[in-house]
Amino acid sequence: TWTIGNIAEDQIERVAAQIGEHRAICALSGGVDSAVAAAIVAKAIGDRLTCVYVDHGLMRKNESVAIEKAFRESTGAELKIVDAEKEFLDALAGVTDPEEKRKIIGREFIRCFERAEVEILGDSDEKVAFLVQGTLYPDVVESGGGAGTSNIKSHHNVGGLPEDLEFELVEPLRELFKDEVRAVGSQLGLPDEIVQRQPFPGPGLGIRIIGEVTKERLDILREADAIAREEMTKAGLDRDIWQMPVVLLADVRSVGVQGDGRTYGHPVVLRPVTSEDAMTADWARLPYEVMERISTRITNEVSEINRVTVDITSKPPGTIEWE
Ligand code: XMP
Repeated sequence: TWTIGNIAEDQIERVAAQIGEHRAICALSGGVDSAVAAAIVAKAIGDRLTCVYVDHGLMRKNESVAIEKAFRESTGAELKIVDAEKEFLDALAGVTDPEEKRKIIGREFIRCFERAEVEILGDSDEKVAFLVQGTLYPDVVESGGGAGTSNIKSHHNVGGLPEDLEFELVEPLRELFKDEVRAVGSQLGLPDEIVQRQPFPGPGLGIRIIGEVTKERLDILREADAIAREEMTKAGLDRDIWQMPVVLLADVRSVGVQGDGRTYGHPVVLRPVTSEDAMTADWARLPYEVMERISTRITNEVSEINRVTVDITSKPPGTIEWE
C-alpha cells in the first residue's frame, strides 16, 4: 500500500541508485521543497551531499540562523553557509526597479552558489556532479515536463572546475504535491518550522522595500515584520493565512505624532492573504484586535515607522508581493 513512509523510502533508494558513489550538492533556500529534497538525498548518500545556503542578507529577523540550526539538527547534513550580505547590498545599491532587483539578486545568487561549488568540488577528479533540486509535480507540469522552474541550468560548466565536469539533476520530489512533500519532510524528521513554513519569496525582503534596498531600511523592515509575525502566531492565525508580507514604503513619508513630538516617518503595509496556490488570492479579513496590536506595537517599537496600513486588494488585480 501507498504510504508517506514508503514514498520516502522509495525515493531514498532511487536517489542512492542514481548517484552511486558520486557527490551531490544542493542549494538550500530556506523553503520546504529544497529542505525536503536535501533530507532525502542526505539519507541516501550521507556526507557525500553538501548543502549550500547563500545568506543574502535579505532574510527576516533571525531567520537564517534558525534555518541553519533546524536543518543541521534534523538532517545532520553537511551545510556550507555563504555569507554574501555585502555583495548583495553592493549590487543592489541605487536600484529601485523591481525587475532589476530580481535580476541582480538571481545573478548574485548563482555567482555565490557557483563559487561554493568550486570550493566543494574543485580538487575532485570526478566527471559527474549531481545537483539536487526541489522540483515538484506542479512545476514539472507547468514547464511542459522540463526541469522545473529553477534558474540554475541543468548542464553547465563552472570556471575552476574540471573542464568536462557535468551536472546531472536529482529531483526526488518530481512526482509529489506540496502536501505530500510536507508529509515526507515530517516523516524524515524535519521540524514544523521548516515543513509548515509559509511561502517566502527567493529575493526576500529585497522586494518588500519599495525603493532602494539598504541595510538600514532592511533593519527597520525586519523589526516591523518580526512584530507582525509574532502577533499573528500568538493569535493562532498562521495556518489560516497563506502569508502576510510586510512592505516598507521607504520612499514615502508622512507626518505623525509619536512620543512628545512631530515625526516624519515611513508607512508599512500589511498584506495578509488567503490562497490555495498563490495563483489567485483574497485579502484576509484579520480580526480588528490583531490589527490593532500589530499597529500599536510597530509604531511604538520601531521609531522610523509612524503609520501602519492594510492592503485590501485581491489577486488579481494586485499580486501578493508589491514588487
Ligand atoms: P505574486 O507576488 O506573484 O506571488 O502574487 C506569488 C507567490 O510567489 C511568491 N514569490 C516568489 N517566490 N521567488 C520565489 O521563490 C520569487 O521571486 C517570488 N516572487 C513572489 C510570493 O511570496 C507568493 O507566495
